[in-house]
Amino acid sequence: MKLNPPNFIDPAAATALQHASHVVVFTGAGVSSESGIPTFRDALTGLWERFDAASLATPAAYRKDKDLVWGWYEWRRMQVLRALPNPAHIAIAALAQFVPKLTVVTQNVDDLHERAGSTNVVHLHGSLHTPRCFACGRPHHLDQEIPREPEGGRRLRPPNCDHCGGSIRPGVVWFGESLPTQELNSAFTAAKQCDVMLVVGTSGLVQPAAGLPARAKNAGASLIQINPVKTDLDGECTWTLYGQAGTLLPKLLNMAFPNMDLTRVA
Ligand code: OAD
Repeated sequence: MKLNPPNFIDPAAATALQHASHVVVFTGAGVSSESGIPTFRDALTGLWERFDAASLATPAAYRKDKDLVWGWYEWRRMQVLRALPNPAHIAIAALAQFVPKLTVVTQNVDDLHERAGSTNVVHLHGSLHTPRCFACGRPHHLDQEIPREPEGGRRLRPPNCDHCGGSIRPGVVWFGESLPTQELNSAFTAAKQCDVMLVVGTSGLVQPAAGLPARAKNAGASLIQINPVKTDLDGECTWTLYGQAGTLLPKLLNMAFPNMDLTRVA
């Protein structure tokens, strides 16, 4: 198969968007990387150099060392609170005004889509901003404005549940846990009904989320992928645009909808 050169946009991809009645934008960590949030498969740096993201993201890791795992998630939540939506998030939010129906499905646990103005975002892997009790499952309110720096740079004791005194855990889906049923059903339904799916910044390695593009394709949708490198999803996609989402997504959407205002953040 002939690969497109970097930053090449096939005009046919823009035409498909113009004619779409339901677009699904399916995003992964790559859409937030230009906001300064490291992707999952980037090596951890600095304080967390010795650690592997996947080995911290399990119930077993939390049971073994709650302060370490909570400290890591608070460090990530702080990165997100300090970050701003980038042109890719903004373009996705703007797209809602130009297509009859848009569904944003993300694997990301940040809130940068919402801060760019997207609504009803389907969060398949939960959110850093909705912690809950590890024991009784009740939600716990965290101060959004003044995150605490993990003590000694890394470890941080999780707060206790106001109801049962149990330890608070992040509101994300860990390896070995089920995805939230309602979100998964919404994503599957949207994948089945859409006529175009934009697949942005995901390695396509983690199931069941990684199966969404195939579901959309099997139901007849065209798939437009944006990623700087080849991924496991290339074979499924009608078009793969090789490059950064913050550059290519605004360009693609501008080709499809020249009146789109890509400067505003809601
Ligand atoms: P990954 O870290 O696996 O992949 C990020 C993808 O983004 C890679 O394919 C990069 O090439 C691409 N990328 C990097 N910079 C980009 C940019 N500027 N523009 C476009 N693409 C870019 O992240 P995910 O695919 O989101 O799950 O990972 C899926 C899941 O695995 C995560 O949600 C998480 C993780 O383990 C859980 O925590 C359950």
